[in-house]
Order: sequence, then C-alpha cells, then structure tokens
Amino acid sequence: MKKILNCLISAGPTREWIDPVRFISNPSSGKMGYALANEAQKRGFGVKLVSGPVCLKAVDGVTVKQVETAEEMSIAMLENYATADLIIMCAAVSDHRPKLKWKQKKKKLEFPKNIELIPNDDILDQLGKKKKKSQTLIGFAAETENGVQNALNKLNKKNLDWIALNDVSNSSIGFNSDFNEITLFSSDGKIAKLGFCNKEELATQMFELILK
Ligand code: PMT
Repeated sequence: MKKILNCLISAGPTREWIDPVRFISNPSSGKMGYALANEAQKRGFGVKLVSGPVCLKAVDGVTVKQVETAEEMSIAMLENYATADLIIMCAAVSDHRPKLKWKQKKKKLEFPKNIELIPNDDILDQLGKKKKKSQTLIGFAAETENGVQNALNKLNKKNLDWIALNDVSNSSIGFNSDFNEITLFSSDGKIAKLGFCNKEELATQMFELILK
C-alpha cells in the first residue's frame, strides 16, 4: 500500500496581546497558507494546518488547529513536526510580544507611553535545527528591501530546503491580497520565479516545483 505523506503548514498572523482588547499583529489574511494546505490536500497529502486568527475555511480533509499567539503556534508546530514529511511555514509570526499582558482593559489616560517587548522564539529556526533527512522544510521571507540577500540568509541560517521570497512592499501582492508572486530559492542553488497570479494557482505551481 502506498504511504500517505504528511504535510504541516502554518498560515495567518499571530496576535500578541497587550490587554484584553489590544494586540500587536500584522495584515496576514491566511490566504496564501490556506491555498497551500488546500493544494496539499488535493494532491493526497495528510494535511495539518496551524492557523492564526483568520476568516477562512480550509477544504474538507484538512485538519485545522486554531492558535492565536506565537507561543501557541510554536507548540502546535512542534507537536506535529516529527510526523510531517513536508513542512511549510507561511504564517506571519510576530517576532515580539509585550512583556506584560494587562488583565483589565487599560483606560486611555492610563495607557503606557512605552510598551516593553520581548522576543518570541523563531519557530522556523527551531524546526530547522530538528530537521530529519527525510523532511522537506520550506519558509517564506516577507521583505521590503534587499529581498534576495535577506531570503538567502534565512534559507541558510534556518537550515531550509526552499525559501519563497515575497516582496511585501508591493500592496497588489502578498499580505491580504488575492494575488501573489514569489521567487523560490533552494538550498542546492535552484531559483524559480513564479509570476503574478492568484494564490490558488501559485500554490499549484509551488507544489509542482517542490515535488519535481
Ligand atoms: O496571509 P496572506 O495575506 O495570504 O499573506 C501571505 C504572506 C505575505 C503572509 C506570506 O506569503 C509570507 O510571506 N509569509 C511569511 C511572513 C513572515 O513572517 O516572514 P519573515 O520574513 O518575517 O519570516 C521568515 C520565516 O520565519 C517565515 O517562514 C516565518 O513563518 C518564520 N518565522 C518568523 C518569525 C518567528 N518568530 N517564527 C517563525 O517561524
């Protein structure tokens, strides 16, 4: 019997709470990550999707674990990592969180002028350190400048097999758009530009390339 391969994908933003009504986050809609999860499901993978707060529904057959914070996303990714063959970290994880989370809503006049932030763990970096030879690990690089250099640094530093460079300075693609264009770099020197198209089509092209 043919073995079913497992795919683990993260999508969407994280929320790092300041008090019960305010948080630090970013404009990720989850569309890119959900398109990748749906594509993996169509191709016969067993799919787990770790999703930050978004307004999307994955196709039937995709198991979704909802999370809010980077810490929760980290736990969910690490819990499911050992059994995954293909891992794609598409989520826009907040690099920092407030050191303190106020239990009650801060009144306008009491709101602090400065909020002390502490770093979140880099989930992808942790996954790269634990990567087995049989696993394929893919990250995204959301960049506004020096894209190629920054993406290649992330590819090497985080021990990835592929990285998708996403120019998020262009508002017609990337964050919260139905469309995207990316350049993929592999650890063995391959480069592939996937041009402007909707995120579903881009996910199809990405899988075709990666599974080649
Ligand atoms: O959700 P959409 O609206 O469809 O938008 C898609 C997208 C723009 C969010 C997506 O295409 C994208 O670029 N995702 C990566 C966003 C990001 O956080 O990039 P980064 O360059 O800051 O991080 C590099 C990599 O490390 C990413 O794979 C990220 O998931 C991962 N990371 C980052 C920080 C952290 N603490 N832990 C991580 O694992």
